[in-house]
Amino acid sequence: KKRVLSGVQPTGSLHLGNYLGSISQWPKMQEEYDCSFCVVDLHSLTNMPKNTEVTKSLKENTLTAAAIYIASGVDPSTSNIFVQSHVKQHAELSWLLSCSLPLNWLERMIQYKDKTATAKEGEVGTGLLTYPALMAADILLYGAEVVPVGEDQRQHLELTRDIARRFNDLYCKGGPWKKKTKEYGIPSYPVFREPTAQIVKGGARIMSLSDGRNKMSKSDPNPNSCINILDSPDVIVQKIKAAKTDDIVGIFEDTSRPEANNLMSIYDITSQGDGEDVSNMSWGEFKPILATSVVEYLKPLQKRYEEVRNEEGYLEGVLKEGKENASVIAEETVRKVKIGMGFYLD
Ligand code: TYM
Repeated sequence: KKRVLSGVQPTGSLHLGNYLGSISQWPKMQEEYDCSFCVVDLHSLTNMPKNTEVTKSLKENTLTAAAIYIASGVDPSTSNIFVQSHVKQHAELSWLLSCSLPLNWLERMIQYKDKTATAKEGEVGTGLLTYPALMAADILLYGAEVVPVGEDQRQHLELTRDIARRFNDLYCKGGPWKKKTKEYGIPSYPVFREPTAQIVKGGARIMSLSDGRNKMSKSDPNPNSCINILDSPDVIVQKIKAAKTDDIVGIFEDTSRPEANNLMSIYDITSQGDGEDVSNMSWGEFKPILATSVVEYLKPLQKRYEEVRNEEGYLEGVLKEGKENASVIAEETVRKVKIGMGFYLD
């Protein structure tokens, strides 16, 4: 079976973009692939939390994210669910990869360029730059070949491929590697597999409710811009009511109408083929229909979420077992990497 790995940062509430762009793909992949889903808590520090905003809720957000994975249909008896920081090889491999990763490969990442463009001096942490090396480590540690993500992660996946290829070429080719692997009794070339991004057709780029030209994002300061997976029906109704609109009657696709396009695609997905014809509706008619559709779509997930959180010790048990399973593979990979790089092994 091919391996799959994906993850979400527990930076705040997970939102509809995270769900439609990535998490909702995961349960369907469990049959065909050998899946690992990771709560990438180390990544949530990359925005350099200056105060306790991130850190005070990091633990709770990590548990919430893991529970959302399960509530979405990820089955812990089939897939491995774990927390990134529990498996120390993520940080270790990230360092090993960074040392053979040209700086300019990181500097050309769109997300890095976008986030630094508006930041003041001293506001950007080193982690924001090196973040894709950690993401590459997450994927390469487990030999994942398929990585279900939203559109905004495409470039990071391409970088991961480049990193994998470069590492294999530099350290795992030719005579010395063959000889060393023989010595240690491990299968030789290649150490890393080159992963590919699996990006859904609809939902790969859900936009903000307050500006249809920006993606829905956890870091948006306007809480009305995001529908969170765990928002109550009342909050969802109110956020959709407040969503930005235009003056045109009828909800239909038009390249010059980013808000209409976005809300219509959310409606298409959440109504699951059972939607009404909204092409002649006014915004006032459409919005309550959309709100009901989103509320109904999230309802089963929210119900299961409560069950998962209420079962004493269950989630903690899943994460403990997940850590143990992940560690076995992660250790083996780092060992191979270290052999390639010439380390004296313990
Ligand atoms: P993160 O936490 O920002 O987002 C998690 C997943 O949600 C997708 N996503 C979206 N999809 C559609 N519309 C949106 N508005 C939207 N916003 C976010 C993201 O593409 C992502 O798939 N670096 C990653 C996390 C990560 C990871 C990994 C992913 C770390 N290591 C290894 C896969 C494999 C991130 O920050 O995602």
